[in-house]
Amino acid sequence: MREIFNEIKQDKEFMEIVGPLLENETVQEMKKYRQHYETSCYDHCLEASYRCYRYCKKHKLDYVSAARATMVHDLFLYDWRKRQPDRKGLHAFTHPRTSYENACKIMDLNKKEKDIILKHMWPLTLKLPRYRESYLLTVVDKYCALSESFREIKAKHKRKKLAKEAKKNVN
Ligand SMILES: [Fe+2]
Ligand SMILES: [Fe+2]
Repeated sequence: MREIFNEIKQDKEFMEIVGPLLENETVQEMKKYRQHYETSCYDHCLEASYRCYRYCKKHKLDYVSAARATMVHDLFLYDWRKRQPDRKGLHAFTHPRTSYENACKIMDLNKKEKDIILKHMWPLTLKLPRYRESYLLTVVDKYCALSESFREIKAKHKRKKLAKEAKKNVN
């Protein structure tokens, strides 16, 4: 397990804020869908949520809204790599609204939480985010996506290297 997930588990206050969400069946469903490379939507949202929470706490921002909204910002619940006839529009543009609508079914969202979810793909979503916490997720989301991608590329490279070495040793 990655270090950050251990940190998350041990952070009592964070777990008090997002704990009920983590146990929610719909949120649990995110474990079935991959976000970037091998990272599930669930792990991606959890890491992003914790990073937003930590930053907001340090800078005296609304860490509760940031943590809650970020935990469900990718609650779209489908495999975005597969084309589906009933899904219209490009995933990158449409999934914030889908996630927001799914989130509305399981929790009450305040104005800020709504903005955080709906604008998280900014600047793709042209409307400007209204809150600092919303801008924060646009950055943290991209940071997490990049680190998830780099991690996988690094792991692939390592696997290849090991396979090469094993082949060498056999010959
Ligand atoms: Fe997203
Ligand atoms: Fe995301």
